[in-house]
Amino acid sequence: MGFQTLELRIEGSLAIILLNRPKALNAINLTMVGELEQAVGQIRDDPGVRVVVITGVGDKAFAAGADITEFKAMSPIDAWIFVQRLQRLFLEIERLPKPVIAAVNGYALGGGCELMMACDIVYASDAARIGQPEINLGIIPGGGGTQRLARLIGKQRAKELVLTGEIIGAREAWSLGLLNKVVPADQLMVEVRKLADKLTIKAPLAVKAVKEAIEDGYDMALERALAYEGKLFALCFATEDRTEGVNAFLEKRPPTFEGK
Ligand code: COA
Repeated sequence: MGFQTLELRIEGSLAIILLNRPKALNAINLTMVGELEQAVGQIRDDPGVRVVVITGVGDKAFAAGADITEFKAMSPIDAWIFVQRLQRLFLEIERLPKPVIAAVNGYALGGGCELMMACDIVYASDAARIGQPEINLGIIPGGGGTQRLARLIGKQRAKELVLTGEIIGAREAWSLGLLNKVVPADQLMVEVRKLADKLTIKAPLAVKAVKEAIEDGYDMALERALAYEGKLFALCFATEDRTEGVNAFLEKRPPTFEGK
């Protein structure tokens, strides 16, 4: 499928989405939202894809936010429709039944930071710069930036970042709990591929269950969340992958999981 604003590479069981508007620091315009919807749908429906990586083209930006040039003529209703669409897209990414790794290769601002936070695991280059600077435009984050951020780093720290619009470096973002790992810029994709290699050989249905248990259970009271986890645990015992995993362990060989 030919895209204008991104590239979708399928390399065996790995899908890599490259945000590709480097002249605009990979800002997320309406065309990119539509193309991300298509790419994510394609990845979701392809059983051969087991891990997804999202990164930006160039060495400057992951994504420097929504495309501000499109805000100039936007009516309140257009703005509402736009953020609802953005929120659905980010939820779809968060809910993909496969691990999604963000490889943050530069600026992750506004919608770029929101996209990053919708990913399961975030590795960043030491040159990455993170923030929610919407306040400087007289608006607020609308793609989850006030919600996922507060859930990830706590209300007080989220308020400080969103109210000041401050752009912070990768080390500070890591110390706040926004990033899993910070690596030298030239090692980012090497480290991300190592992580992807580890994840592609895991049992796909168990991977899906882990994501559902953590995503759905996170906002439940502990007792209900534990009951939910227990049911997903039991469900894994209905899979061929469970038989394979347990047999492989007992036979002292590596397992081969087929997602059945
Ligand atoms: N939307 C549209 N275009 C954007 C953009 C965005 N969010 N972020 C950057 N660009 C464009 C710039 O307008 C510029 O285009 P031009 O070359 O046609 O003038 C190009 O990308 C390069 O950006 P520039 O500002 O020249 O780079 P810089 O290194 O001086 O500054 C930033 C980098 C990220 C600090 C700065 O671009 C910026 O503040 N961007 C907006 C971030 C933001 O507010 N995001 C939230 C949006 S809701």
